[in-house]
Amino acid sequence: MTLQLVKTVKDLSAIVAAWRGQGHTVGLVPTMGALHAGHLSLVTQMRAASDRVVVSIFVNPAQFGEGEDFESYPRQEKEDLEKLAAADLVYMPTVAGMYPEGTETLPANPGLADVLCGKFRPGHFDGVATIVARLFLQVQPDAAIFGEKDYQQLQVIRAMTTDLALPVKILSAPTVREADGLAVSSRNAYLNKNERKIAAILAATLTHLIEKARAGKDLRDLEKDGKVTLVQGGFNRVDYIEFREGETLSLSPEAGPKTRLFVAAHIGKIRLIDNIALS
Ligand code: PAJ
Repeated sequence: MTLQLVKTVKDLSAIVAAWRGQGHTVGLVPTMGALHAGHLSLVTQMRAASDRVVVSIFVNPAQFGEGEDFESYPRQEKEDLEKLAAADLVYMPTVAGMYPEGTETLPANPGLADVLCGKFRPGHFDGVATIVARLFLQVQPDAAIFGEKDYQQLQVIRAMTTDLALPVKILSAPTVREADGLAVSSRNAYLNKNERKIAAILAATLTHLIEKARAGKDLRDLEKDGKVTLVQGGFNRVDYIEFREGETLSLSPEAGPKTRLFVAAHIGKIRLIDNIALS
């Protein structure tokens, strides 16, 4: 099949309805474009899980805060389309088409959305929950896939899907990393050579702390050590480095099977996030 590109719900619905008529299952891969190996791994996994694959590309204004990079976020339609040979349909809505009434939002689950990144990016997960709910209602997929790279986002989306009883199966995929461990991200393009070296310390610190946590070291002490390591390594601000439970995102009192280590830290104006599981 050749890749098709649509920009309106009307065109999208016509194609999806035809697939449904032929008895095909439909999988959705939501993205903001500037596609990289992480995104493409989601497409590959969805290809194996459903008959037809829709990739949405939409830089969602509702999830960017004041002073964040909505305007400068990389937009590369042509390159993105060239990378999507494994998909069947690309859905690229316009801001006006997606938000005819303005960027009104649905509240994300407060217990999940108020901690970690939610504390530093107020309203961010409301914007994510809103756009993903709208995409689910527009595309009506059987399944959708999200990366563990954005683990808190994955949990917020799981909760939104359950709370609204949307009939979409949520799949997740492991984080794709560079050779030195740095999680692949669209924002890595902002890093200069020196900043790129500093960035590698993030994943290395997580791996080191996870080993110590497995060996039974106190989690709060390890969080403090981690912050010091990152600052000494060249990060100018650490928003958080915390051991939390994978499903509830509550602070882990001690290392357990669901414990994960989450981090967000700044190199200059660039904010990087990452997380890894204890087990
Ligand atoms: P975006 O940052 O473009 O990411 C799209 C999807 O790719 C998300 O599910 C994200 O977790 C996944 N992803 C990013 N980097 C990855 C990596 N290194 N390995 C594996 N998966 C990775 O996340 C968003 O867009 C938006 O918030 C969105 C869900 C599309 C809603 O607007």
